[in-house]
Amino acid sequence: MSYRIKTFEEYKSVYKKSVEDPEGFWAGVAEHFHWNKPWKSVLEWEFKTPNIKWFKGGKTNITYNCLDRHLKTRGDQVAILWEPNNPEDDAIRLTYRQLYEEVCRTANALKSLGIGKGDRVCFYMPMVPELAIGVLACARIGAVHSVVFAGFSAQSLADRINDSACKAVLCSDFNARGNKNIPVKKVVDDALAMGCPSIEKVLVLRHTGDPVSWNADVDVWWHDIVPNQSAECPPEQMDAEDMLFILYTSGSTGKPKGVVHTVGGYMVFAGYTFSNVFQYNEGEVFWCTADVGWITGHSYIVYGPLLNGATSLMFEGVPTFPDAGRFWEVCEKHKVNIFYTAPTAIRALMAAGDEWTEGHDLSSLRVLGSVGEPINSEAWHWYHDKIGKGRCPIVDTWWQTETGGILISPLAGITPMKPTYASLPLPGIQPCLVDASGKEIEGDDVEGMLCMKFPWPGIIRTTYGDHERCRQTYFATFEDKYFTGDGARRDEDGYYRIIGRVDDVMNVSGHRIGTAEVENAINENPHVVESAVVGFPHEIKGQGIYAYVITDGPVSDVAKFEKELLATVTRIIGPIAKPDMIQIVSGLPKTRSGKIMRRILRKIAEGDTSNLGDTSTLLNPEVVEEIKVGARR
Ligand code: PRX
Repeated sequence: MSYRIKTFEEYKSVYKKSVEDPEGFWAGVAEHFHWNKPWKSVLEWEFKTPNIKWFKGGKTNITYNCLDRHLKTRGDQVAILWEPNNPEDDAIRLTYRQLYEEVCRTANALKSLGIGKGDRVCFYMPMVPELAIGVLACARIGAVHSVVFAGFSAQSLADRINDSACKAVLCSDFNARGNKNIPVKKVVDDALAMGCPSIEKVLVLRHTGDPVSWNADVDVWWHDIVPNQSAECPPEQMDAEDMLFILYTSGSTGKPKGVVHTVGGYMVFAGYTFSNVFQYNEGEVFWCTADVGWITGHSYIVYGPLLNGATSLMFEGVPTFPDAGRFWEVCEKHKVNIFYTAPTAIRALMAAGDEWTEGHDLSSLRVLGSVGEPINSEAWHWYHDKIGKGRCPIVDTWWQTETGGILISPLAGITPMKPTYASLPLPGIQPCLVDASGKEIEGDDVEGMLCMKFPWPGIIRTTYGDHERCRQTYFATFEDKYFTGDGARRDEDGYYRIIGRVDDVMNVSGHRIGTAEVENAINENPHVVESAVVGFPHEIKGQGIYAYVITDGPVSDVAKFEKELLATVTRIIGPIAKPDMIQIVSGLPKTRSGKIMRRILRKIAEGDTSNLGDTSTLLNPEVVEEIKVGARR
């Protein structure tokens, strides 16, 4: 598509124009998409409340742009290439025409269940083609999808269903991951048993075929109602600012919040960033290893690639099954050209040993991508040398659930790379660094809190059901700026390097987890009086979870108690939030006003007790000594 930048010179001039005339720039990008009715105004905005509207008055349907538009030119090209968990099973290739028909059938089936425009639909599914199909089917009829990662607990699922009052859940019987067969329907049943009054129907995909319990009042088999539907379903005309989806993400306080993205702006942004960052060429195979349960899967497995007529590989399994060579085997098997993964996977595979990369033909690879957490220098070089054989550019893409798409990243093969630097803002993106007082830090070689000064089409519009929370979290910290929650450095070339979160959010294996969330879960254990959770550097996961726990009495069997605690966290949140280290303490360092001094706890968890600062002002300085002595490594 002609919105793709081709040289670094061009990037610099486009960037300059995009800052001088953002509306003109984005209008030019948006013209590459199909609109049923043109927009009346490109942008209306103010960050104070916030109120952000892109392409107001415009009407479109994102699935028309993902599917219908391609039928004439690439109806027989593969849209979704699905690689199953078990390498012995067959891959599935869905052409654009087949995908279009499946989406229409599923959309009609959803309608037959009474789902229509504006209704919220929850997904709790493994990485199967029907997940992408179902998501697109919602978008087709204007229903709002809310995908919940299938590793979350029944409690987390119930909370998310209830927060946005979803009308239906789409799930499967089981989830095949590695050599595990994980019950999925059972988790949905458990969630519903906790009370989800808005749920009218559960649409169940028979995937592994293992038996499930059945409630004929609400449960419906996918194969009973989808295949016999018409393969035509007219796309619902959506306002640019109609809701497209909700995706829950963790913050520093309270329960996860539902980040809301809208149709027009998200579409323009996901499409534009995919094409430019990865420099996708017609006919290439693009593989993003994320799960559709996270924003990366939304934007760069489903929407971004399909908007550009790409072939998107969707992988059901895990990087280490049947062995640590699986990713490279799949790259070879499907001749993957662009490979996009998280540093945690790179580190895990690097630790497994180089022998797993050898013996695989990786010559099809042209571009490598990284996302979700800072990539350390060692992992960057290993990725570059062993996987890219020194010839593939690496795009270290920085962004967030709230940003809808990539904000800071090299353009593959165009932006000169610097290992560990996310590098330069994309056209239309205006980052800045600010100090604690909110003052912008000018110049080179500086560090501060990363903010955005101007909206882009994919920016969060609200947090579902609680607009004030959106304002508080992102727009109230610094006046007239979107605050990312990340700290960053800017060097003499204007390149950004992301340091990490500056709030109480951890990044564990690329998953965003709030410390408060884990504490609340731990506190559900009947023997826990109080707890404090911090992140600590972890060789593979980037950050691990360290929990300090006060119990209601002496613990006789520590190993048993720890197991119990992990079970509690798994039950409340899911296995991804399990602490790596648990230390039983008699107290937590607190200020005189009763605030936990997390700085001290973080230092101890990091194993750095040399400089804990002045502890004499604490309410209970003696406890610091005890915690230091008992620290786990
Ligand atoms: O801290 C940043 C980190 O991930 C956070 C966003 O998490 P989430 O909303 O789950 O989205 C992850 C996938 C986009 C950010 O605030 N992060 C994301 N990408 C990078 C990163 N940190 C460093 N480098 C990156 N490339």
